[in-house]
Amino acid sequence: MTTIDQILTDWVRAEFTRIFPEAGDALSAVQVVSAGSPDYGDYQCNAALALARSLKRKPRDIAQTFLDQASRPESVERLEVAGPGFINIHLKTIWLAGHVAAVLKDERLGVPTIGTGRTVVLDYSSPNVAKPMHIGHIRSTVIGNALDRLHRFLGYRVISDNHLGDWGTQFGIIIMGYRHFADQQALADSPVEELERIYVKSYEQSKAGDEWLQQCRQELVKLQAGDAENQALWRQFVDLSLKEFNRIYLRLGVAFDLTRGESYYNPRLPAVIDMLQQKGLARESEGALVVFLEDEKLPVCMVRKSDGGYNYATTDLATLISRQEEFDPETIVYVTDERQQLHFKQIFTVGKKLGIRARLHHVWFGLMRLPEGTFSTRQGNVIKLERLLDESETRALAVVRQTSPAMPENQQKAVARAVGIGAVKYADLSQNPQSLVTFSWDKALALDGNSAPYLQYAYARIRSVQDKYRDQFPGRDPEAFPIRLDEPVERALALQVARFAEAVTMAARLYKPSVLADYLFALSGLYNGFYQNVPFLKAPEGVRESRVRLCGVVARILRQGLDLLGIETPERI
Ligand code: ARG
Repeated sequence: MTTIDQILTDWVRAEFTRIFPEAGDALSAVQVVSAGSPDYGDYQCNAALALARSLKRKPRDIAQTFLDQASRPESVERLEVAGPGFINIHLKTIWLAGHVAAVLKDERLGVPTIGTGRTVVLDYSSPNVAKPMHIGHIRSTVIGNALDRLHRFLGYRVISDNHLGDWGTQFGIIIMGYRHFADQQALADSPVEELERIYVKSYEQSKAGDEWLQQCRQELVKLQAGDAENQALWRQFVDLSLKEFNRIYLRLGVAFDLTRGESYYNPRLPAVIDMLQQKGLARESEGALVVFLEDEKLPVCMVRKSDGGYNYATTDLATLISRQEEFDPETIVYVTDERQQLHFKQIFTVGKKLGIRARLHHVWFGLMRLPEGTFSTRQGNVIKLERLLDESETRALAVVRQTSPAMPENQQKAVARAVGIGAVKYADLSQNPQSLVTFSWDKALALDGNSAPYLQYAYARIRSVQDKYRDQFPGRDPEAFPIRLDEPVERALALQVARFAEAVTMAARLYKPSVLADYLFALSGLYNGFYQNVPFLKAPEGVRESRVRLCGVVARILRQGLDLLGIETPERI
């Protein structure tokens, strides 16, 4: 199905082109978007403002000329010029009802498959071996997975790759640490924690004495040269870490197509250097090999250290080339915290110089602040994610006991799992990724705010309304009755239903799951307004069935929308 904003954009653009052919290329920018507030109609177009300069006319004049001369498609009730020259578009209610009926019939709820034939590589989560996931990796996992689900639903071919930090200088330090301080029992009980302890201890030792540092370097050289013993240790560290990461992914409902890690690209690093040198991009500087990016006003990008070792940038260039060759993607998206912005600017710039065709995009986010105390360790943002999830489930159980005291305990626990995990994810996803978020239990678990439990609860309540209808009117098929939008609250709800497709496409296009979260929250609000203000089961036949159908589609959208955010919807809460 085509989204309403697209239907209107196609019409407005065609009419502008006919009426103002002299605007030329500027016409391609003409666009219709949903109105920011009902005061501005249902949809809005700012083309008159955008074209004022090229047409050398006042925006209000342009808008008025458009109103005077443009044809009216069957969807449009009336147009008006507003403010400095906006065109407000009011849809015909009967047309809207028809569109919503089509959305109801569509198993995709009106969401177009705009991604067919297009490939996206999504690089997300990507924690480092032998270190616990820090809050940045958690955000990357949750945001990245939502983008993954959104793109797949839109029909894209998605290659999700967990680019593990499984190679690099830290392994010399860990191997030394392992040889001297490993506690086998601790390693069996909580491997990543123990590996981190070993790492920190060995790292401190390397700071204290040159000899230790030298030995660490030797271990690293041995590892990189393929020494059997060190390779085996390294493999063990990777496996232990992966086992722990996988437990978390399972709990979060996250899966990847690939988990290649940096080590996968190791054999390709010398070729990257050759390529850079052949193209005259890299130069020696104080023993190191660097790419100068003065023209782009970026600091130099080091690709080989003075000791001959490669670094993070070299690996990312090799990764980029490999992905281009193997998948020929339209876009490659990286999801990490804000501290890597410069790194990716450099990689993208060098990548383009090396002939990478894919569009490259870095989705970055601020670090989330966690509640004081409980989860922070000395590094400040390193937390035990599993403890956060445990606590969330425990708190969610208290909520479920309140909402469903009669539910059997094992069912309460299952629901609490969905609510607890959902709450943590949603607290993250509902924020603009680029804003600094402070996590709060009260907000994350609120039944009356912008939270997962609120939306899950809304879903469960609609399901019980549907049950009530079936009980009272057995054997009746609401689908046999048309959608009617007589009341303003009904019309507003229907319009929001019709906009699901726009929310999904926009969330993917902007790489902002929060767009979808905002949409779902607004949908629930409109649903509440509808449900509380018009009679439902007591409404006359026909009106009642139309309302049941609207309820049904709201439930489907909540379920589908939350699923796209990686959040489950229990039938009862
Ligand atoms: N392992 C890195 C870190 O923890 C993130 C990797 C992101 N992806 C990439 N291709 N560089 O900081």
